[in-house]
Amino acid sequence: MSMAHFLLILASLSWVSSQLTSPQINSQWYKDGENVLKQKLNAKNIEKTGKNAILFIGDGMSIPTEVCARIFQGQKRGQTGEENNLSWQLFPNVGLSKTYSVDFQVPDSAATATAFLSGVKTNDGVLGLNQNGIKGQCASEKNNHVNSLVAIAEELGMSTGIITTARVTHATPGAAYSHCASRNWEANIPSSQAGLGCKDIATQLLDAYNIGDGFEVVMGGGRCNFHSINTTDPEYTTFKGCRFDGKDLIQEWKNKKLSNSAYVWNLTAFNAIDPNKTDHLLGLFDPSHMKYDADRLTDKAGEPSIAQMTEKAIQILQRNPKGYFLFVEGGRIDHSHHSGVAYGAITDTIAMADAVQKAVAMTNPQETLIVVTADHGHTLSMSGYPKRGNPILGLVDGAPSLDGKPYTTINYANGPGAIKDGELRPNLTGVDVQARLHEQQAIFPIIYETHDGADVGIYSQGPFAHLLTGVVEQSYIFHAMKHALCLGPNSNVPNCQRFVTRGSAVSSVASNMLLLVIMLCLVKFLQ
Ligand SMILES: *[C@@H]1O[C@H](CO)[C@@H](O)[C@H](O)[C@H]1NC(C)=O
Ligand SMILES: *[C@@H]1O[C@H](CO)[C@@H](O)[C@H](O)[C@H]1NC(C)=O
Ligand SMILES: *[C@@H]1O[C@H](CO)[C@@H](O)[C@H](O)[C@H]1NC(C)=O
Ligand SMILES: *[C@@H]1O[C@H](CO)[C@@H](O)[C@H](O)[C@H]1NC(C)=O
Ligand SMILES: *[C@@H]1O[C@H](CO)[C@@H](O)[C@H](O)[C@H]1NC(C)=O
Repeated sequence: MSMAHFLLILASLSWVSSQLTSPQINSQWYKDGENVLKQKLNAKNIEKTGKNAILFIGDGMSIPTEVCARIFQGQKRGQTGEENNLSWQLFPNVGLSKTYSVDFQVPDSAATATAFLSGVKTNDGVLGLNQNGIKGQCASEKNNHVNSLVAIAEELGMSTGIITTARVTHATPGAAYSHCASRNWEANIPSSQAGLGCKDIATQLLDAYNIGDGFEVVMGGGRCNFHSINTTDPEYTTFKGCRFDGKDLIQEWKNKKLSNSAYVWNLTAFNAIDPNKTDHLLGLFDPSHMKYDADRLTDKAGEPSIAQMTEKAIQILQRNPKGYFLFVEGGRIDHSHHSGVAYGAITDTIAMADAVQKAVAMTNPQETLIVVTADHGHTLSMSGYPKRGNPILGLVDGAPSLDGKPYTTINYANGPGAIKDGELRPNLTGVDVQARLHEQQAIFPIIYETHDGADVGIYSQGPFAHLLTGVVEQSYIFHAMKHALCLGPNSNVPNCQRFVTRGSAVSSVASNMLLLVIMLCLVKFLQ
């Protein structure tokens, strides 16, 4: 080796060491980073038609909501919390969804659900209508219907399911099957719009069973919208139904005589359902919304968790060789935020993470697309500078504000927590800020904390999941899922089975006929 060579090697060695030091590469963070890099380099996009898809919506699940939930979950497991991951946060594909509606910068759940389920943005308050639908105007429904992924999948012979922890007639699930000028017409049409041919959302749910062979699974709350105002609720005997027309839609559902159907309204009956012997399951577990997960065990007749509902639904739906589309909403993350109580929003987010974990464990990413996103965010924020492992619902230690009062890590921009007993920003010293019903402080008081208009995350794994990356319009989610499942005639998916199957079924009939004719000719000829 010449001297020049030797010097060159020495120089290059010192170049390497000045780039990557041993204190660096021996750090656990460094090793973890290299492991993730290796995983990502080995990951391959799955570019073939999906057999099944599951769409999870965390209603109101802003990115700060997810971050607080993963810290809370980690802390419940005895960790500092920040390093934890919610189940979907390990998915290989992440995008951002722009949530504004046609008429609002900060949208509502009716417009957003219509966007991701039907591929078009629309106006706040309307369900399953394009932007010509006007809130509260029955006449605007005509000729403006848009169909949801759930309805399209059912029509093409897939099995379908709709699960929510809110009322099944509420805005988000309502966009899966109804076309309605107002999200508020859950059981009744107001007198000003009566007689113009519009139907309430619960009635439309029953009508939608005419699509394909009918939804296989519908579960959530909202029993009241199916019972007459003169009917006593089976669980809470002081409650009556909500329908002014006196109809009993549960009875009408039973009268449809769907194959192997079952209606359940409590946990015992839910648990007794054999998914291998049930083709159509309707579960309505509360007169209104189901309980927050944090309060679920206090329910009188018991109700299943979102994970239990998801598991049962997949067991029923996966029996269809043509595949399934399942829609699952963690519907009450939003409600707890509206009440200014972060605790309920966080624990319902964790309950949905359990449901996603269940779905991941029960499915094969080679054939099932799983998408997790939110319809819109909320004004929750995370303030500095709590130390690592500080309770996520707790006070920020040793960080006095200008008014000398302590503050919590989590706050809202607005909400009922802004004012207590007439006092703005009360002194939190000695207050149990981690209590189940503590209302976080906010800048200005308002009865219901509001949505926010920031982007929400889209997390996905499975066939064509890589299409759900980048910063995209919320309505695009429909298009990516339609493509992945081959649910549209103009789809360019290789091996677009659902449409090729139809085409080849036709051509195989034709070729069989041809074969028959040739054989008949041959027989004639040989005679
Ligand atoms: C969270 O995910 C990362 C990979 O992105 C992993 O390195 C880390 O160990 C996970 N955290 C926990 C607590 O499992
Ligand atoms: C409810 O019951 C009352 C009293 O019997 C009756 O007048 C009313 O018509 C009933 N309403 C409906 C919607 O059935
Ligand atoms: C349903 O049937 C399948 C196939 O026979 C079986 O593997 C599975 O355990 C059954 N599921 C339940 C919940 O009984
Ligand atoms: C659950 O519903 C079934 C069917 O209506 C009923 O027989 C049973 O008593 C209910 N169980 C509870 C605990 O309410
Ligand atoms: C808040 O309350 C604590 C305990 O009562 C008290 O020591 C502190 O001075 C109060 N702070 C302000 C700014 O009033």
